[in-house]
Amino acid sequence: MLSPRLSVAAVLLVAHSALAASSVNSTSGTGATSFYWDCCKASCSWTAHGSFVGNPVQVCNINGTKISDYTLGTGCNDGDSFSCLDQIPWAVNDTFSYGFVGAEIDGFLESTWCCGCYEFVFTNGPVQGKRMVVQASNTNYDAHGYSQFNLGIPGGYDYASGCATEFGASPIFGKQNNGVLTRDQCDYLPDSLKPGCQWRFDWFLNANKPNVTWKRVPCPTELTDITGCIRSDEAEFIAKAQTNDTTSPPPSAASIVGSQSVQYTFAFAALISIFVAL
Ligand SMILES: *[C@@H]1O[C@H](CO)[C@@H](O)[C@H](O)[C@H]1NC(C)=O
Ligand SMILES: *[C@@H]1O[C@H](CO)[C@@H](O)[C@H](O)[C@H]1NC(C)=O
Ligand SMILES: *[C@@H]1O[C@H](CO)[C@@H](O)[C@H](O)[C@H]1NC(C)=O
Ligand SMILES: *[C@@H]1O[C@H](CO)[C@@H](O)[C@H](O)[C@H]1NC(C)=O
Ligand SMILES: *[C@@H]1O[C@H](CO)[C@@H](O)[C@H](O)[C@H]1NC(C)=O
Repeated sequence: MLSPRLSVAAVLLVAHSALAASSVNSTSGTGATSFYWDCCKASCSWTAHGSFVGNPVQVCNINGTKISDYTLGTGCNDGDSFSCLDQIPWAVNDTFSYGFVGAEIDGFLESTWCCGCYEFVFTNGPVQGKRMVVQASNTNYDAHGYSQFNLGIPGGYDYASGCATEFGASPIFGKQNNGVLTRDQCDYLPDSLKPGCQWRFDWFLNANKPNVTWKRVPCPTELTDITGCIRSDEAEFIAKAQTNDTTSPPPSAASIVGSQSVQYTFAFAALISIFVAL
């Protein structure tokens, strides 16, 4: 029979392994999706919202011209900064697309995902089995206790009337919480945004919030050439990916204090202290 001390240690170790395996994870998992297009300056366009090699996500002025002042406030709150018109999804072929998302990885802070790239495989709906590689250009503040990625699709829900500020009133586009419902309605959008709107009906098959499996991947230049944004931990992430060390957390993943894994670490440390004191 084990001594009481060893029994406690064994129970703690088993519990630790079980919880570590199920704890939140910033490199891969399952998630929900939605879509939006609010024309606002994206959250990952603020320098302080992540750690970047150069600039955060490229911003534009009200005319869609790229600007380099990342301190300007969002046009959705009387500021002079808006999202750019080229951060829209596009299809490479029938089963693969690129795009941009507002991310929320459950249990982590936005500095974990801003400008990180993720591969999605859709797991249900008409797009089941199709793949996308996306860059997190924004943050989905509407967390529900699971990871969720909101695809940036022109004509998607506009939560803040930012599109009306930028483009003026339209029967469809620019109305708060309204959105395009049919492919024809994409014609109400400015020319540069139409292809991203049509993508939703052509490639995405107007799927209704399909779920995904997701994993972080090295960012392709197809995406970083558009946003100009590269994470400071990107090189280290690529080096780890090349040695197949894909299970360790990315270098600058930052957990939300109070999340399951953080609480567990504290609990484990406390129990170890009790054990040592026995
Ligand atoms: C999609 O994911 C959400 C969140 O985890 C879950 O509640 C829902 O049941 C899933 N839907 C399908 C069809 O798997
Ligand atoms: C946007 O374009 C309009 C019309 O050409 C011009 O009057 C305005 O100054 C421009 N705004 C910015 C911020 O460049
Ligand atoms: C679609 O494009 C992706 C990315 O380039 C490629 O991996 C895949 O093989 C292509 N699929 C088809 C059916 O061409
Ligand atoms: C990584 O995994 C692939 C596929 O399993 C393998 O071919 C490759 O040799 C591995 N690379 C290293 C550095 O272990
Ligand atoms: C993250 O989850 C995947 C499976 O979804 C697993 O293979 C990987 O080991 C996990 N990584 C961490 C750091 O827990």
